[in-house]
Amino acid sequence: MGATATANWVMRPIMFDFAPNAAPTDKPELYRELLAAARALTEGEPDGVANMANCAALIWTYLPDLNWAGFYRVAPNLANQADELVLGPFIGKPACIRIAWGSGVCGTAAATAQSQCVADVHAFPGHIACDAASRSELVVPIMRDGRVIAVIDLDSPSPARFDADDTAGIEALAQVLGSRIES
Ligand code: SME
Repeated sequence: MGATATANWVMRPIMFDFAPNAAPTDKPELYRELLAAARALTEGEPDGVANMANCAALIWTYLPDLNWAGFYRVAPNLANQADELVLGPFIGKPACIRIAWGSGVCGTAAATAQSQCVADVHAFPGHIACDAASRSELVVPIMRDGRVIAVIDLDSPSPARFDADDTAGIEALAQVLGSRIES
């Protein structure tokens, strides 16, 4: 009993009961809570996979009306070493593993280093449909030292699910993760 208590005390104590307090409609407050949770969970942890996995879970926990939430990382193409996107930690249906630079919503966000807020994915030229239920999408690049190193991708089954508040909120998360997803 005493030994267990000591071991738990020595380990870094973390509360794992993360859950939103804000109303689902109060986006600014939801994103404040999400960001605080992401900072707390990733602080001091150098393992990028662990940090992306926990942040995918936080996004899923804090934001309503999503059918996919996760990461694509910039990595070399196996044949020609050109930059492309490779699937990272996520929640949702199994997804397209590799995305060419500039392709789809994710590849466009990576190639332009600009967030892509897409109200109707069917109207986006070259959209890559991983889950037929997706109707709108938000993709935000994660930068490090002036280069795109990954993107955060959110999909929703509702048209026009994402707006300027979502873009600002996920961009704030991307800023935090820029130094926390590579060891
Ligand atoms: N729709 C994305 C592909 C990734 S999935 O949505 C998970 C795109 O067009 O790049």
